[in-house]
Amino acid sequence: MARTDEMAGSDRLIAAGKQEGDDSHIRPQRLEDFIGQRQVCENLSVFVQAARARGEAMDHVLLFGPPGLGKTTLAQIVSRELGVGFRATSGPMIAKAGDLAALLTNLERNDVLFIDEIHRLNPAIEEVLYPAMEDFQLDLIIGDGPSARSVRIDLQPFTLVGATTRSGLLTTPLRDRFGIPLRLNFYEPEELLAIVRRAAAILDLPITDDGALEVARRSRGTPRVAGRLLRRVRDFAVVAKRLPVNAFIADAALGRLEVDKRGLDAMDRRYLKCIAENYGGGPVGVDTLAAALSEERDTLEEVIEPFLLQQGLIQRTPRGRMLTDSGFGHLGLSVPKAAKSQLDLLDPDQEGA
Ligand SMILES: Nc1ncnc2c1ncn2[C@@H]1O[C@H](COP(=O)(O)OP(=O)(O)O)[C@@H](O)[C@H]1O
Ligand SMILES: [Mg+2]
Repeated sequence: MARTDEMAGSDRLIAAGKQEGDDSHIRPQRLEDFIGQRQVCENLSVFVQAARARGEAMDHVLLFGPPGLGKTTLAQIVSRELGVGFRATSGPMIAKAGDLAALLTNLERNDVLFIDEIHRLNPAIEEVLYPAMEDFQLDLIIGDGPSARSVRIDLQPFTLVGATTRSGLLTTPLRDRFGIPLRLNFYEPEELLAIVRRAAAILDLPITDDGALEVARRSRGTPRVAGRLLRRVRDFAVVAKRLPVNAFIADAALGRLEVDKRGLDAMDRRYLKCIAENYGGGPVGVDTLAAALSEERDTLEEVIEPFLLQQGLIQRTPRGRMLTDSGFGHLGLSVPKAAKSQLDLLDPDQEGA
């Protein structure tokens, strides 16, 4: 079963999971505090204003992107900007149709219902969700056997905000019912710099510009990672009595945490090394890799690979994963001849497998 946000977690400091700490005081509360994802925010702002002007529920929103990029945060912001109530649950928490019915019938007019990990909804429950999303109606079967009967319940209009790590994990009928699909991308270093500065201010942590930049650069393009690394750097700095945090302290702390200059952690490097050393740079199928690394395939695909792909360290080809020249370069290895000709043969734009 796919586990996303919480997985790959415990032994992996940089994992964008949420096993640590309460982030609630750091979470941006309004669209204007939300740094980055400009296109997404601009579009949301228009849809929010339009829905408010009409006094109607906003259309359903699907947020997708790797863990830690701000899906939950944006869902909360949407309800706040709309000035409506917010209810949250997650796909695996909804075990029976009755659970979903209870949630839906308790919504007030135009409320936001947030379903995290919506790709993990049980198919039978998905069926119940369709008419609710489309017509704000619930069709339930009461009882079983010959005495079973179906009842129809009218619901208040509501906005469903679904979050998933990959939109491809959703069934087509479910995906098609979201009027507003929004993809979140990894953050640029300048955006992460602003996020680190903001978090440091909230944590009351003195930090220099170059110190903040060092943390930002090594945050794997991910605000949640930035927040976590900042907290660990703070621990080192406080214990060493070296405040404000500067680039030197940040670098020393991050080095101790095995986060490299590019923000890759031990697990990322283990993944890259496995392709380089065991499979001559690839191509190697993702299932083979998962077995070799004793990781779940979903962890590789949803947590580890997106950033390595975005950084151009690996390539996804129809025959499996391959290390790129910069992937070899990052490991300090030269590109073997065989791997070089493989890469040249492939159209760099190919996606798949
Ligand atoms: N754009 C942003 N600006 C500032 N902080 C952010 C931003 N996006 C996310 N965060 C912070 O990163 C953490 C993870 O965000 P979250 O919404 O839980 O991610 P997701 O639901 O996509 O896994 C939160 O602590 C949040 O405060
Ligand atoms: Mg989340």
